[in-house]
Amino acid sequence: MPNETEVVAEETVANSEETLTVTDNRTGKSYELPIVDDTIRAMDLRQIKVREEDFGMMAFDPAFTNTAACRSSITYIDGEAGILEHRGIPIEQLCEHSTFLEVAYLLVYGELPTRPQLEDWTFDITTHTFVHEDIKQFLKGFRYDAHPMGMLLATVGALSTFYPGSKNTGDQIERYLATIRLLAKVPTLAAFSYRHNMGLPYVYPDNDLSYSENFLSMLFKMTEVKYEPDPRLARALDVLFILHADHEQNCSTSAVRDVGSSDVDPYSAVAAGVAALYGPLHGGANEAVLKMLRRIGSVEEIPAFLESVKNREEKLMGFGHRVYKNYDPRAKIIKSHADGVFEATEYNPLVEIATELEKRALDDEFFTSRKLYPNVDFYSGIIYEALKIPPEMFTVIFAIPRTAGWLAQWMEMSDDPDKKISRPRQIYCGRRNEDYVPLGEREGPDTIEGPPATRPS
Ligand code: CMC
Repeated sequence: MPNETEVVAEETVANSEETLTVTDNRTGKSYELPIVDDTIRAMDLRQIKVREEDFGMMAFDPAFTNTAACRSSITYIDGEAGILEHRGIPIEQLCEHSTFLEVAYLLVYGELPTRPQLEDWTFDITTHTFVHEDIKQFLKGFRYDAHPMGMLLATVGALSTFYPGSKNTGDQIERYLATIRLLAKVPTLAAFSYRHNMGLPYVYPDNDLSYSENFLSMLFKMTEVKYEPDPRLARALDVLFILHADHEQNCSTSAVRDVGSSDVDPYSAVAAGVAALYGPLHGGANEAVLKMLRRIGSVEEIPAFLESVKNREEKLMGFGHRVYKNYDPRAKIIKSHADGVFEATEYNPLVEIATELEKRALDDEFFTSRKLYPNVDFYSGIIYEALKIPPEMFTVIFAIPRTAGWLAQWMEMSDDPDKKISRPRQIYCGRRNEDYVPLGEREGPDTIEGPPATRPS
């Protein structure tokens, strides 16, 4: 005779193919959970309880490795196949035919702009590149050697105080203004941070130049009346901007969505993205690549370095990706632009070390068996190095184009009918019902020993 569970399960299969039947072996009860888009709703697990008074079952997914946190129509990635598309258009086509500002429009509006739309968009962004003079005062308050990413983080957040109207997050005009301002001013703030760090005077934006040309001008202009960037460098930078414009629900984008879900203004939400990008496992990877290359020091030292990676004493920075498990398509595209940059710039020994390191790692079973291939940051780091941009600036430059993605994702999140303030759950592992012990009655050592007890038991 079949037991109760088997009967329910059989009926379920007969009734619906778009459901998942879950049997709780603690109780023998079965539950039919709807499947939509190959997912189940985590909230549907809540009904699974042993006792009526129980909280109900949750999904445990630290780092969200298998949890969809939103519906999105902005960026499609197939990590196994090495596909990246924005609004359905392959990244290869965008890099070949488009410009960063056009891609930014595509991300934000969902369609490629018509010619007049692109002209207006470009005009609006180009004419909002100046920052309030008080921002310069604010920047001056930083130490001479302040990390430019820390400066960018602070100044992007500070923009919210200059534009209090942006708190009306549902107002379409305010949204447009914030979008234009952020896309226009982040390069200026980035370049000012660099010049501060170098002890050089700030260079004001040049509105005759394209987006990437203007950025190069703000970085490198010295006494010349007009800065004229090498077109190969400006194009390579524009392609790097396109490649970094969005990458679906990565750490910084999730940070923007999470923080933005509280309905805070977009400057503050984007500042959260900048903070997340600062970390060496995310945007800081290309900076870490250069530090690694410097540590290696010469081509002869590469085998010893790779041995230390295999012994887990080191990480091969710029290799591996959480999503791309075959090849990062962005790496393929930028590799083809790297040669042009190396031609247009002076010989750099680190470029040689990087090229040899890549070759050897791709020939090594340790890396191939783990599907560890160069990611976009491996090449972007070397390109920036060839441009003589210091490593501290790499993540700052990553933040410029990613601002477009953050804004597109922030708007999509804000308009999502499923939107609620982000509030994950936890599995509480700590002590309960402890009594407070008065100070004089406590026992233990006199000195603070070791790190705080952070690990859950
Ligand atoms: N060097 C050496 N070993 C590595 C590396 C690496 N860079 N990346 C992964 N592994 C090993 C890892 O130790 C593990 O080995 P085992 O199975 O023997 O324990 C295996 O490969 C799988 O790694 P994982 O940690 O499960 O992979 P993950 O998906 O959690 O991590 C990653 C992805 C990007 C954090 C990691 O590959 C990494 O730290 N790479 C270096 C940092 C880097 O370049 N980050 C930039 C990512 S691209 C920019 C962006 O899109 O944000």
